[in-house]
Amino acid sequence: MLSLTVHQLSKHYPTGTAALKNVSFVAQPGEGIVLLGSNGSGKSTLLRCIVGLESISQGSICVGQTSIATADAAQLRRLRRQIGIVFQRFNLVSSLSAFHNVLQGALGRSKGPRYWLPATAPQLERERAMHCLDRVRLAHVAQQRVDTLSGGQQQRVAIARMLMQDPSLLLIDEPVASLDPKAGRETMDLLWDIVRERKLTAVCTLHQLDLAKDYADRIIGLRQGAVQIDAPTSLLTDHELSWLYESSQPLAIAEATS
Ligand SMILES: Nc1ncnc2c1ncn2[C@@H]1O[C@H](COP(=O)(O)OP(=O)(O)OP(=O)(O)O)[C@@H](O)[C@H]1O
Ligand SMILES: [Mg+2]
Repeated sequence: MLSLTVHQLSKHYPTGTAALKNVSFVAQPGEGIVLLGSNGSGKSTLLRCIVGLESISQGSICVGQTSIATADAAQLRRLRRQIGIVFQRFNLVSSLSAFHNVLQGALGRSKGPRYWLPATAPQLERERAMHCLDRVRLAHVAQQRVDTLSGGQQQRVAIARMLMQDPSLLLIDEPVASLDPKAGRETMDLLWDIVRERKLTAVCTLHQLDLAKDYADRIIGLRQGAVQIDAPTSLLTDHELSWLYESSQPLAIAEATS
């Protein structure tokens, strides 16, 4: 469990695009936040800044006590080990088996390839990888190449790999974007069960308002890179949420937001 503190964060790309403008929020340990906003509103940029894949133009991001911008290489490596990432396009190695992909979740804490190659990985890591695959109900396809699995199954392999990594903070970018509604709900159920079980701090981007309302403890809404909504899910109305995607009018009902 780690807190996440984003303070007055701005991100300008070299193209001149201001992707994030003065974004501030604190995710408490164990809090499940859903990030909403239309295409191009800055959601993925925010997640990439948090994990240190994008530089920050202004402001700061702290994961636990560690500031991303000022961390040295060793601190950054330690931090990345604690941040699990589940992205829309799975980021699996397509030519490798599900089991092999999951074993690679141990990469951050292992001392070399011996630990994450199926032939040489320690028995304990092999058993853990199988346990993670079992947790996402895919033990039966452990030896199958991931590019022969369905999209929903591939997303579950990516979740198993995240479990193998055993993170404290979880960043999830559109986990259900390429899944049918049933597989999408199953994936969200699985992810959120894990978030609750392990008391993970989670930030998840979604485009589906119904899923956001069903799963999020709290919703943060971005418009053109700025936070426009930040409130517990139970206080937000459908009108406020759909406004994020609609006209450029100011939001009329803003009492619930902070
Ligand atoms: N590498 C980049 N270089 C320049 N501009 C970028 C880059 N990545 C993103 N942008 C721009 O930053 C803005 C925010 O993009 P971002 O991908 O963060 O939005 P998003 O909310 O994740 O959108 P979507 O819902 O479509 O995934 C957009 O205007 C986009 O064109
Ligand atoms: Mg995105």
